[in-house]
Amino acid sequence: LSHEDQNMLEAHEWLMKLYHHLLKHTKEGKDGLEYLKKRGISDETIDQFQLGFAPDIENFTASFLEKKGFSLQSMIKAGLLADHRENKYIDKFHGRVIFPIRNHQGKTVAFGGRMIYQGEPKYLNSPETGIFHKGNVFYNFDLARHAIRKSGEAVLFEGYMDVISASQAGIDNGIASLGTSLTESQARLLRRYADRVVICYDADSAGIEATRKAANILQNAGCYVKIAQLKQGMDPDDYIKKYGGDSFRDHVIGASITYMTFYLDYLKRDYNLQIESESMQYIERALDEIAKLRKPFEIDHYLNELGDRFDISKEALQQEIAYRRRKFD
Ligand code: CTP
Ligand code: MN
Ligand code: MN
Ligand code: MN
Ligand code: MN
Repeated sequence: LSHEDQNMLEAHEWLMKLYHHLLKHTKEGKDGLEYLKKRGISDETIDQFQLGFAPDIENFTASFLEKKGFSLQSMIKAGLLADHRENKYIDKFHGRVIFPIRNHQGKTVAFGGRMIYQGEPKYLNSPETGIFHKGNVFYNFDLARHAIRKSGEAVLFEGYMDVISASQAGIDNGIASLGTSLTESQARLLRRYADRVVICYDADSAGIEATRKAANILQNAGCYVKIAQLKQGMDPDDYIKKYGGDSFRDHVIGASITYMTFYLDYLKRDYNLQIESESMQYIERALDEIAKLRKPFEIDHYLNELGDRFDISKEALQQEIAYRRRKFD
């Protein structure tokens, strides 16, 4: 670990504790606490996730870091302060509820911050630094890894609040891929702990597109992928708030479907299957996706479905798969 990285780790540790303390015990943190309470977050959960609040005072963090002896220039590099004219250093996260992002050893290496007042963007995250490589880290992996290993299954969410609400609902194997789309490196890491991944992204067009991408990456890494579906427009945290944690566990996570069933259904939106030529296009697209499956029995299963639905012989469909798979190699 370089001196600079060590320094950054120390700053994150101090600020994590500061923001957490401010949230729980001070008038500077009152708005943040009220915000989390309104969202149904318990004191226990606040402790578990070390949630905090960066007061809406522009130089609060800079003064604190200066008193602790940190060079403020290096804190800009760490993504904790924003540069400013006239030697003024502004707390990048001011006015935001703080989600500490810990690496797999449990060390805080970055922050996510949610604006609770008027202002954009809704979320702000630490930049890539020497101690934070977004593409290699999952939010909550350090706490969830034992449950993931034990059950052989991980639940992958989009957002911090989804992981946290799900945890309150008793789902302790939930992680999030940190705003960016899932990377191959994250998928390889996850595969070492889990055979199965349930993707539970938001039920909006961005979430559905991200689901398809993540599912392909996870399948290529050797994971068996399931999809947990929500009503259009909802995210897991919305659902839990509206219908409760038990319902989420039983009727969303418990009712997850295979990725291919999800995809074959999703594809139907693009085609009018009453029209023969469109059916043919649908079948082409479906075969493209089925050919990516790894396990012969899975391929067989979906070919049977397709064959029955469109009255096509198994032999013809198998030839199509063989043709596509030759192209992959
Ligand atoms: N995100 C981000 N920057 C944004 C919006 C989102 O980094 N401007 C990331 C955050 O990690 C966020 C996740 O993407 O948690 C999911 O985004 P979204 O669904 O928009 O946010 P929610 O987590 O649902 O936010 P909230 O419930 O607090 O409104
Ligand atoms: Mn401001
Ligand atoms: Mn979203
Ligand atoms: Mn969301
Ligand atoms: Mn949300």
